[in-house]
Amino acid sequence: MQFPEGVRIDGITGDVTPSTGRYLKKLSALRDLYEAPELVDAYIAQHGDVDAYDVIEYRPEGSDICFGTTIMHPGKIGREYFLTRGHFHAKSGRGETYYTQSGQGVLLLHSRSGETRAVEMRPGICAFIPPDWAHRSVNTGTEKLVFVWNCTIDAGHDYAGIATRGMRQLAVEQNGRLAVIGNPKYRD
Ligand code: F6R
Ligand code: ZN
Repeated sequence: MQFPEGVRIDGITGDVTPSTGRYLKKLSALRDLYEAPELVDAYIAQHGDVDAYDVIEYRPEGSDICFGTTIMHPGKIGREYFLTRGHFHAKSGRGETYYTQSGQGVLLLHSRSGETRAVEMRPGICAFIPPDWAHRSVNTGTEKLVFVWNCTIDAGHDYAGIATRGMRQLAVEQNGRLAVIGNPKYRD
């Protein structure tokens, strides 16, 4: 039998108490997602293989839903920023929400039929990610970007499509400001 529970989420550190699991992504694991992977090598040569983001999960046994936090470190690779892998959910018809707690960023999305959107990530904004939209979050600020995600357990992740084709959009710094542009390297 499942029992209700209050889970404490720290909006600054992203800590989840209690949690059921977590993982850490190092910058090197994200190398080939950047438009200029050689700049990732240069960054690592200078700063080491830094932490890019942590994911902390609350995934109760037998539940249909789960939630948790993603804690993204700030950093820049050329004109791009630290980012997550990005994925479609493996199961069609499964959406998600991303509720930003601290920091600032942008959520890049595209649908299976090729529409694109970008949603600002800042405290107070809860992004609605409809089913069948790929999503990648990007930390465009100088502090940690912390958000709470909430989805169904059976949603799953399909990383392969984004890893091979890329996202349709890039978040870049242009003339000192954030710009969301089409990805010239996107493989249709
Ligand atoms: C779950 C979800 C988030 C991400 C996390 C890391 O469906 O969207 O929990 O998994 O923000 O991003 P990815 O998984 O793209 O590396
Ligand atoms: Zn997702």
